[in-house]
Amino acid sequence: MTRARLQLLLSSALFAAIAPACGGNVATEAFDDSGTADTGKDPADTKVDPADTAVPSDTAPSDTALPIDTAPVDTGACTPIADNTSCNEKVTYPCGLPFPPSTPPTSEECKRLCAPIKYSYGAPSFSYCSLSMASGDGTTVYCSGCAVGRKPGDLLANDVGPCEGENPVGTALAEMARIEAASVHAFRRLERSLCELGADGDLRARTRRAARDEIAHARSTARLAKKYGARPRPITLARDAAPTTFDLALENAVEGCVHETLGVAYLEHQRAHAADPELRALAASLYDDELDHAALSWDLIAFFDRHLSEEQRGELRAATERALDDVVIEIGRVHPGVRTALGLPPREVVEKMVGTLRQTLFAA
Ligand SMILES: [Fe+2]
Ligand SMILES: [Fe+2]
Repeated sequence: MTRARLQLLLSSALFAAIAPACGGNVATEAFDDSGTADTGKDPADTKVDPADTAVPSDTAPSDTALPIDTAPVDTGACTPIADNTSCNEKVTYPCGLPFPPSTPPTSEECKRLCAPIKYSYGAPSFSYCSLSMASGDGTTVYCSGCAVGRKPGDLLANDVGPCEGENPVGTALAEMARIEAASVHAFRRLERSLCELGADGDLRARTRRAARDEIAHARSTARLAKKYGARPRPITLARDAAPTTFDLALENAVEGCVHETLGVAYLEHQRAHAADPELRALAASLYDDELDHAALSWDLIAFFDRHLSEEQRGELRAATERALDDVVIEIGRVHPGVRTALGLPPREVVEKMVGTLRQTLFAA
């Protein structure tokens, strides 16, 4: 898919979601996908500088040790009930919360309240959370751990190392920087697999360049996190098993075609609406690269398609649908201060945008 067509679809969907009453007609004219995509970059830029391949964060060996001092006490009938369905993680406290949180809860309070959520690989760390109204069934804490970006499937949560700041904006930026750094690993691993699967040189070069882009993104995002008093946590990867082709196809569909693609639309909104001029500039600086990464994801769909069974293709479509649902849920849980500072679109805009994209981009 050309980046121009992708850009048009995303911009049109965002525009239609923001200003439907102001003549926001969605442009749907066909684009020729057969030509070479104009990436706006120098072809020589596809060469990877070996000096530029270090992940800008401490990448520790696999470490599944988890902090245990933050877990709520098991009190029988009052045991917290954790629900970790995809990005819809939540914890219900049948007998009320174990402590009175701030309004809204701080990052540290969210970590403690969301601590009962565990996966087979360990416990994710939740930077934000929100509370439901207390009811007869207790109080529910909605935890937010998903970020827009290409998060590798073997990325583990890790609370050891540099601490996040208390400022929610700083915490959000630190987590963004961590995911950007993790994306370096995702693209490098993908490039190795593409080589083994016999992918053409163009796909491999674009994947290598994406890894290099993400190094720069991690650095620039971490710099701004520091301005808000936060540092990204180190990356910890599970290195126990090599991903299958299906694993990589699934990661590409969810992290690339959903999260990185919608991330482009978010960046378009952010570069116009972020309260902090430096955050507007950050969004503008990431936009072109992320558009490249999103276009690459859609081209990889066609590549992986040849290596999958019909049943696996069906699983990919279902996972994509779930991920689109989760994106809408997730944006509604972002801390209001974070949304304003970063200029993220509100839930109703994302919901409309995703609805339009389901009929255009994701229907293709
Ligand atoms: Fe990035
Ligand atoms: Fe990216």
